[in-house]
Amino acid sequence: MQRRIVVMVLIVLGLGIIVFNAGAPQATANPPGQFDDPVRQGEYIANIARCVACHTPILAQYDPNQNEEYGEEEIRTGALFARDTLDNDMWMAGGTVFNFGAAGAVTASNLTPHETGLGEWTDEEIKAAIQSGVSPDGRRLHPIMPTMNIMAESDLDALVAYLKSLEPIENEITNDLAVANPPAEAPEEPIAAPVPSDQAERGAYLATIMNCSGCHTASDPETRQPMMDLFLAGRQPFERDYGVVYAGNITPHDGTGLGNWEHEDLERAIVEGVRIDGRRLGLMPWQDYSHLTPEDLDALVFYLTDVVQPVDNAIPATALNEPYIEFVEGVGDADDDEEDEAPGILVAVVGGLLIIGIGSIVLFTRRRKSSK
Ligand code: HEC
Ligand code: HEC
Repeated sequence: MQRRIVVMVLIVLGLGIIVFNAGAPQATANPPGQFDDPVRQGEYIANIARCVACHTPILAQYDPNQNEEYGEEEIRTGALFARDTLDNDMWMAGGTVFNFGAAGAVTASNLTPHETGLGEWTDEEIKAAIQSGVSPDGRRLHPIMPTMNIMAESDLDALVAYLKSLEPIENEITNDLAVANPPAEAPEEPIAAPVPSDQAERGAYLATIMNCSGCHTASDPETRQPMMDLFLAGRQPFERDYGVVYAGNITPHDGTGLGNWEHEDLERAIVEGVRIDGRRLGLMPWQDYSHLTPEDLDALVFYLTDVVQPVDNAIPATALNEPYIEFVEGVGDADDDEEDEAPGILVAVVGGLLIIGIGSIVLFTRRRKSSK
């Protein structure tokens, strides 16, 4: 009788181990891809679509024009941890300057609800600027501001709600461009469909608003338009203080693209900025993308591996200068946490099953014996 109690306890223990271990990772794995609160959803889109990265100024310390001691450390932070260079006290108050040499410079606008920002803009005017790149005065916004005509209506509303929730900050922005922006003759037609729920479409939508193509598609040297037959197949190098950086071929092509990358490798590159060989990626805005919900990250990766056409296009390897190499190598081990977790679950399940199995055999043979 006592033996039987021990056996029962073992069975319960075995089941417990299985249930506990199988249940634990799932409890945290599936937060929703969308947020119910529009302000929270707007903040989400502002992070992953990089409105924050462009519309928040960088700290003077990281600006070569303002810092005489601009050196290795500043360059390194700018290249590898760009988010850390932002001035959080001037959140979304404009000021990132894009310098085009002789053509002048354009500054990302103040998007806070101050009168020097969007304080006097209506919701519809803000939405039109984002969707079609036109200003209420009829001016065409500089093309560095990505127009997002595919942005879903609910995400536009969420962005407006978020922008209006920001602390108003006084910051008058004036642009000084030698050549005026092209006139707003043919603004892009807004599509304003609902947020796609199908995984492939959702992935495509995310890749568009997150502008992977802006850095990973080569542009025609004449027209400066992206070359769509080389969509996501890598582009011309970015020449920087720290080396020559190529945003590589991220199509699923075997050999020249990411054909042999596992889903986890891609996830790690996108949200942790770690390359398959453990090197930290430069310029790749992984800190902005680290906000992605697990569901959206899944959809984006599915789109890249299963929807995007493989393009045969070999891109040279990024070549960093000597002082920066030591900062970027080995930031991530080849072993991911998740890979360590999987055998752990396996051991627990097998262990649990073994305990139940032994328990049942003991119980069964005892029954047989006692029934004889
Ligand atoms: C790559 C940098 C970049 C990104 C990303 C970006 N913007 Fe902009 N944005 C700019 C620049 C530069 C301007 C100024 C253009 C001009 O004055 O011609 C601008 C202008 C604007 C304007 C017009 C404001 C005014 O006062 O004229 C709005 C509204 C705006 N952006 C909203 C957004 C939102 C919302 C997002 C994210 C969905 C976003 N931007 C992402 C660079 C960016
Ligand atoms: C601001 C420019 C920029 C944007 C936007 C950008 N990337 Fe990148 N990405 C880069 C650069 C540059 C590299 C290479 C960095 C290096 O080699 O150090 C890179 C590297 C990568 C890699 C690793 C490829 C390899 O062969 O090592 C992946 C994967 C990747 N990006 C995916 C994406 C995805 C997906 C998006 C959109 C969600 C995206 N990137 C948006 C600039 C960008």
